[in-house]
Amino acid sequence: MSITIVTGASSGIGRSAAIEVARSGSGVIVTYNARPDRVRETVARIEELGGTAVALPLDLARTETFPAFAAEVRRVVAQTWGETHVTGVVNNGGFSRVALVEDMTPDTFDELYGGLLKGPYFLTQVLLPLLADGGAVVCTTSASATQPLGLVPGYSGYAAMKGGLVVATRYLAAELAPRRIRVNSVSPGPTRTSLGGDTFSAHPELAEPLAAKTALGRLGEPEDVGRVIAFLLSDGARWITGQDVEVSGGFNL
Ligand SMILES: NC(=O)c1ccc[n+]([C@@H]2O[C@H](COP(=O)([O-])OP(=O)(O)OC[C@H]3O[C@@H](n4cnc5c(N)ncnc54)[C@H](OP(=O)(O)O)[C@@H]3O)[C@@H](O)[C@H]2O)c1
Repeated sequence: MSITIVTGASSGIGRSAAIEVARSGSGVIVTYNARPDRVRETVARIEELGGTAVALPLDLARTETFPAFAAEVRRVVAQTWGETHVTGVVNNGGFSRVALVEDMTPDTFDELYGGLLKGPYFLTQVLLPLLADGGAVVCTTSASATQPLGLVPGYSGYAAMKGGLVVATRYLAAELAPRRIRVNSVSPGPTRTSLGGDTFSAHPELAEPLAAKTALGRLGEPEDVGRVIAFLLSDGARWITGQDVEVSGGFNL
């Protein structure tokens, strides 16, 4: 049976990815960090579809907790589905910190590094023994890694970490190919989620100029990205590995 771990599934893109993989018949382990109330809504939405989801806490900045997280995943997979392995890992959890280079501090830079690059890298490492041969990993990177967000300055640190994750994705794809594990990433463009303290709700004036820079003429919605994540995990994408798929409606085209 197919079982997928989706990090950062309490809202936005992760919630949508979790719902889409559940719709395709996969059991789902959904993680949350600060908002257990919101992950309960993700679980409820999956149960409404007739699926099964289990929520676990995970702070990607705390690598020292990862072995205990992996042990908990092993226990949940056995108890809930009677299985020993998962078939998919979605490294999606993340946050943004905005600072122009003049204002960036080493602490903020370290925070971005810990949560957005070191966290997903070492989480993947710790989950490798639990991931079935022939499984798949998808990382949520960002179009900002290759398309500087001129309209919204201050993303140099964030985008640098996401760029690092794009590179790591490609290397992991090569390293894990002998086990037939595929590793890909999706790079969302500006997407209406609660990232950055609900930026688009707090500053609706930002949406229009970003939509105007998007060929398809609107902001992305979480479902636009969640569906692509689910596809990359699926057998339909069995010949795709080591790729970063921009999911942006043509941002900056
Ligand atoms: N929205 C965009 O425009 C956009 C564009 C490009 C890339 N992305 C990327 O898409 C991914 C999902 O973000 P989103 O836009 O869907 O935002 P979101 O709605 O704010 O969701 C972020 C998720 O990440 C979790 N998270 C936050 N900090 C974490 C930490 N330290 N450890 C573990 N999980 C943590 C949150 O959990 P809690 O809520 O429980 O704390 C939440 O489930 C992120 O990697 C983000 O960088 C977003």
